Amino acid sequence: MTFSRITGTGGHLPEKVLTNRDLESIVETSDQWIVERTGIRQRHIAAEDESTSDLALHACRRALEMAGRSAADVDLIIVATSTPDMVFPSSACLLQAKLGVTRGAAFDVQAVCSGFTYALATADLFIRSGAHRCALVVGAEVFSRILDWKDRGTCVLFGDGAGAVLLEASDKQGIIASELHADGRHAAILNTPGTVNRGSVLGDPTLKMDGTAVFRLAVRVLEESARSILAANKLTLGDLDAYIAHQANVRIISHVGKKLGLDNAKCIVTVDQHANTSAASIPLALDVAVRDGRVKPGHLVLLQGVGGGFTWGSVLLRY
Ligand code: ACO
Repeated sequence: MTFSRITGTGGHLPEKVLTNRDLESIVETSDQWIVERTGIRQRHIAAEDESTSDLALHACRRALEMAGRSAADVDLIIVATSTPDMVFPSSACLLQAKLGVTRGAAFDVQAVCSGFTYALATADLFIRSGAHRCALVVGAEVFSRILDWKDRGTCVLFGDGAGAVLLEASDKQGIIASELHADGRHAAILNTPGTVNRGSVLGDPTLKMDGTAVFRLAVRVLEESARSILAANKLTLGDLDAYIAHQANVRIISHVGKKLGLDNAKCIVTVDQHANTSAASIPLALDVAVRDGRVKPGHLVLLQGVGGGFTWGSVLLRY
């Protein structure tokens, strides 16, 4: 039987760091407000000439290096992003060219902050079907480009970055299960409504959010999905070695962790250093935890995404 297994992880953050103190000179806010309400202390911001596929390239090279593979081994690239380089081609195709890969399939998935769980679940099915054997699964974003830097309620929350995993066919089980959800009735609570039409931007191209509604929905669906995927696989919360939720806000993560009765030490938190990097947040956090030894080979790990759409998803895996 063929399974898919993560054999390498990689992350990349742009060089420029924007601290909460720096934000105090941009909008009426304070380090204290941001830390108390979100846990965020700083975020990284891409340079003018850095795009989603550039950030993704660095993350992919690190994942390939960890796995001991080269780009020539890759036959599938899936990039989760809501901030692609262009309308088309996909950021996955642009990344493919930067990596020097000339075979296999490459496409983007767009499920906002749930994007990485959607991409990983998709790549798992492609590999288990036998159609592909070696996939780069990436979350990469430049959310700084779609923020209203005059809106203190949103601009303090996000950052740029990329995370990647190499997912390979294996006779040893890696990805155990995934479940994906969407409920488009909640589109109004989190969106970027503008679009490009006939060369002009129609509507507002910056992110809008009803923070309280997002908070409530996020904690509910994350708890429900965690319980459901574990029960469906006859596992318990106590079996988990690590829990990596989308890094939106430390209060969402600790609220869900508390409701699930999870040990704090098992909840991986990088939002303090990275802020919310949307689709990149989970693979970035996974990479940090793998490299600092909190996620080790054989560990049972639950990844959970939640975001605009509304979308949410869980992936349960043995690292
Ligand atoms: N600095 C200072 N004051 C601020 C700021 C800021 N950056 N932003 C808002 N405020 C003010 C508001 O204007 C308001 O002032 P008022 O009482 O005078 O009207 C006050 O702070 C309280 O505002 P609330 O929006 O009620 O603050 P709340 O405690 O709900 O925190 C927050 C806001 C952090 C956004 C919270 O709702 C939240 O965590 N929501 C989850 C949303 C989230 O994490 N989104 C990320 C994207 S979605 C995703 O990735 C799933």
